[in-house]
Amino acid sequence: MLRGTLLYLSEQSLAKRVFGGPLAKPLVSRFVAGVRLSEAIEHVRRLNVAGMTATLDYLGESVRNAGAAGAAAMQYIAILHAIERSGVQCNASLKLTQMGLDVDRALGVRNLERIIAQADQLGNFIRIDMEGSAYTQATLDIFHDLFARYKNVGVVIQAYLYRSENDIRALNAIGARVRLCKGAYNEPASVAFAEKADTDKNFIKLMQLLLSEGNYPGIATHDEHMIAATREHAAKHGIPPERFEFQMLYGIRRDLQAQIVRDGYRLRIYVPYGEEWYPYMMRRLAERPANLLFVLGGVLRERR
Ligand code: FDA
Repeated sequence: MLRGTLLYLSEQSLAKRVFGGPLAKPLVSRFVAGVRLSEAIEHVRRLNVAGMTATLDYLGESVRNAGAAGAAAMQYIAILHAIERSGVQCNASLKLTQMGLDVDRALGVRNLERIIAQADQLGNFIRIDMEGSAYTQATLDIFHDLFARYKNVGVVIQAYLYRSENDIRALNAIGARVRLCKGAYNEPASVAFAEKADTDKNFIKLMQLLLSEGNYPGIATHDEHMIAATREHAAKHGIPPERFEFQMLYGIRRDLQAQIVRDGYRLRIYVPYGEEWYPYMMRRLAERPANLLFVLGGVLRERR
């Protein structure tokens, strides 16, 4: 109920004026690695020192005009050069609506292809994040088209969608790199599991498919049960830690992040930066409404 409300508010501009102001600052600085690219690169450097790789996300989505989409694409080109110059271990994640998918699909694809081609030249990798279910088919169609020409691109599958097992089988068949997550949007029961227990069950099933048949999957979760199930499946089937990676969000469960590295597993941290943090932060609140205490100046009851 609260999750649904917070996700609804994540898309409302009036709510953005109320919740997106100075009150939210402490939470933003915990979950967002600054406004500027140079700040974000410094955070990535620190993560690398701690034994973690990263993926940089320039915050922004649902871009409404071609100019803004072009500017976001330029920022991703700048990210790729900054990674190259600084020598950090890092790739980039982006959203298709940020590239202009809603303005004009061809424009969105052009912007995306420019970034992937640049990443290819620099030996880097681009992950296309998955947005709400209205975009699933378009995202997968665009991914499959581009993957026929570029191998340095990957996609994301959400365990809460009923369709995901079929999508994963198709992606495994072509050797695509998949990030598996639970899913962060407000979805109707016609397309997604309403119960968390069903999503969790599906996550484990999809994780097993990816580990056994996929190409270097990213298992993106902070859920200790999902992580234990992944480790168990890998151990049981002799899948070494170099064949997959765990992924987590910047600032969330830092204790668990350190533990995974200590245990000898690969871990990539998703590092968002930029001014457009409002919808990102609201999705993080929806995942754990206790974070609201932080916004209200309370104590974050999360293990650090
Ligand atoms: P769950 O929500 O069950 O949380 C398990 C535990 O993790 C909680 O008990 C708590 O301890 C901790 N936790 C989780 N979220 C927290 C929060 N916000 N604050 C504090 N603690 C928290 N989604 C999507 O739809 N498209 C995408 O492209 C991506 N990409 C992506 C990349 C990466 C690297 C990650 C880790 C996640 C995503 N997601 C995503 C988000 C994902 O779908 C999901 O909403 C969150 O990861 C939360 O789900 P968990 O698997 O962590 O489990």
